Amino acid sequence: MFTARGTQIIGIASGKGGVGKTTISANLAVTLASRGKKVILFDADLGLANAQLALGCKAPYNFSHVLSGQKTLKEIIVDGPAGVQLVPGASGIQHLASLNRTEVAGIIHSFSEIEEDLDYFIVDLAAGLSDSVMSFLSACQHRLIVLKNEPSSIADAYATIKVMIQDHSLQNIHLLPNAVLTHSEGEHLCKSVNSVIKNFLGSQVDHLHPISADEMVLRSLKSSQPLITFAPTSKATRDFSILADQIEELEHDTTLTGGLQFFVERLAAAQATES
Ligand SMILES: Nc1ncnc2c1ncn2[C@@H]1O[C@H](COP(=O)(O)OP(=O)(O)O)[C@@H](O)[C@H]1O
Ligand SMILES: [Mg+2]
Repeated sequence: MFTARGTQIIGIASGKGGVGKTTISANLAVTLASRGKKVILFDADLGLANAQLALGCKAPYNFSHVLSGQKTLKEIIVDGPAGVQLVPGASGIQHLASLNRTEVAGIIHSFSEIEEDLDYFIVDLAAGLSDSVMSFLSACQHRLIVLKNEPSSIADAYATIKVMIQDHSLQNIHLLPNAVLTHSEGEHLCKSVNSVIKNFLGSQVDHLHPISADEMVLRSLKSSQPLITFAPTSKATRDFSILADQIEELEHDTTLTGGLQFFVERLAAAQATES
């Protein structure tokens, strides 16, 4: 069932809303899928500019139908650009982290049906550091923290990372600056956040290639087309391509293998240790 490398499960989070999590989740998913990778985007946020809009697709059902047992995961998944598959979110999604054993078993079974040869499972998370977000982050193999070069975004990113490291002992945390004017602005941003992390938490986190502020992001969204086909030579498209290279090079966390079924198990386990 698993490919030799297995499924890489990546959570995309931020301290503050509106910093570009959904934009990055969707465009990273499409970029990887356009390279022939099998990618599922899991919308675990309820924000306005949700993953459906970002991928330009419409979903008749959503995850609440899986939670209520009316549909299987396979039945709610919709096809997006470049073969990306979307698991549409629902208002009950945070309860995924607080299900009982029987419900978890049902969801695990549902996930096992779609698992075949999946390369990337990208989780577009809600902003902030709620228990539910932390449970999701604990269940992922890599965590991308999106931040903008704005005081509130920086402070909230730091607060999120502090909880991830101190309260949940999470590793594989990667800073991802978004909407930067220059590449060096992004690099400086990561350096300064990392120096605070080093001083106060005694550790360091990794950082990824910054994504440029680019009006094509909004224009492609309005035209319901993926950025990489709408504006293939745009700055942001180039950035997503470099980011996708880096994501392809991320190490597989050998302590967290086993794919999607185990993702759900970890989710349930993380919740159990919190309550
Ligand atoms: N790199 C970027 N350049 C320009 N606009 C962007 C960029 N990233 C995000 N945006 C815009 O910012 C808004 C918020 O982004 P979104 O991805 O919905 O944030 P989040 O999911 O973190 O709430 C959207 O209108 C989106 O089009
Ligand atoms: Mg969002």
